[in-house]
Amino acid sequence: MQRPQTQYIFEESCRLIPGGVNSPIRACHELKMLPLQIEKGSGEIIYDIDGNHWIDYCMSWGALPLGHAYPKVVEAVQKQMALGSSFGIPTPLEMQMAREIIALMPSIEKIRFVSSGTEAVMSAIRLSRAISGKPCLIKFNGCYHGHFDPLLIQAGSGVTELANSSSLGVTKETIAHTISLPYNDCESVKEAFRLRSDIGVVIVEPMAANMGLIPGTRAFLETLREETKKAGALLIFDEVITGFRIGLHGAQGHFGIDPDLTCLGKIIGGGLPAAAFGGKSCFMDFLAPLGGVYQAGTLSGNPLAMQAGLATLKQLQTPSFYSDLQEKADLLLSPLQEWIDKKNAPICLHRQGSLFTLFFGVRQATSKEDLANLDAPLFRKFYEYLFSRGIYFPPSQWEACFLSSAHTEKSLTYTRDSILAFFEANF
Ligand SMILES: Cc1ncc(COP(=O)(O)O)c(C=O)c1O
Repeated sequence: MQRPQTQYIFEESCRLIPGGVNSPIRACHELKMLPLQIEKGSGEIIYDIDGNHWIDYCMSWGALPLGHAYPKVVEAVQKQMALGSSFGIPTPLEMQMAREIIALMPSIEKIRFVSSGTEAVMSAIRLSRAISGKPCLIKFNGCYHGHFDPLLIQAGSGVTELANSSSLGVTKETIAHTISLPYNDCESVKEAFRLRSDIGVVIVEPMAANMGLIPGTRAFLETLREETKKAGALLIFDEVITGFRIGLHGAQGHFGIDPDLTCLGKIIGGGLPAAAFGGKSCFMDFLAPLGGVYQAGTLSGNPLAMQAGLATLKQLQTPSFYSDLQEKADLLLSPLQEWIDKKNAPICLHRQGSLFTLFFGVRQATSKEDLANLDAPLFRKFYEYLFSRGIYFPPSQWEACFLSSAHTEKSLTYTRDSILAFFEANF
């Protein structure tokens, strides 16, 4: 595969931008590969500047359930652009978006829009500490909640590539009130609440998707709900990935568990920068200007992002949207699972709706600790093989893959057969 322009642009970018990228995982360090330089995307396909193309299973890290450049989203954004892209003054679009999301997400009565998932999480944590009056926060090993300092220990996603699973520059004082516990471990949560009376907030990805996909168990999430309630702490579901991906009502709808606050991102911006946090009115009204918790943003509720989000949410509500996605997932993944079972191969396939991960070197995993012996060389071989066949997966075994409604039967079958051929040749 020829990629001369890509090589040139990446080298120039490295001179001008740290690591040549604006988010570390994009540098493909783990795989030591030249990252893509994208020219355009259409439906399920991404095209690079050298004229190559790939079937995309990254989909902007889950932000694009309809695929790239979905016509109705493009049209909505183009129309808005002609009317003005940002005012810093309310528009009716914010109310419409709020109404739409509140009608769908079971636990949200009021919502505030921000521009990134990190901002949503940061604001929800501040709000929770203000309401509970207690500083200590519990997170879980391998969950990623954006690059907010108190949460940058034992985090998932790109942080797993750092030497200490945490970032330099995060002071001891900043993480003094953070406890990171094993995911899906009810006992350690109960123990923490037994030992400490200063826990004010628990944040969790209800289906962890930043150490690959590791679904939360019902027992675990129910334990979090019970323990936080008993202790007067707030429970935050970080649904930046799962929101509108695990069905229309998110993971909270799937499990029937109401968190106190929910963080959303990715899909709600329809590919533009929008995120949000929301919950019961009695909690959200602690925010300024009603309450004393300050939170603000120049581009919060940006009209372009609201239009893209509204157009996307409308499409997700067409009657068979999620069942069609499930069929696509079945077409791609069920034969893989059958093969793994038949051969009893050391591969673990986790899937939930249109979200999935293949782990090499383990047969089952319920926490980050279970992933200590992942087969990195084999993943690299797998990745290079797919890449050479025009199939683009997120460039790390610690990430989940995403399907969209744009994925066609032809592409899914091609991907499935390619993976099966790899399995046959390597196990
Ligand atoms: C669960 C979760 N929370 C928060 C974030 C941070 O979102 P952003 O990258 O928009 O800041 C991410 C990003 O991948 C995420 O997966």
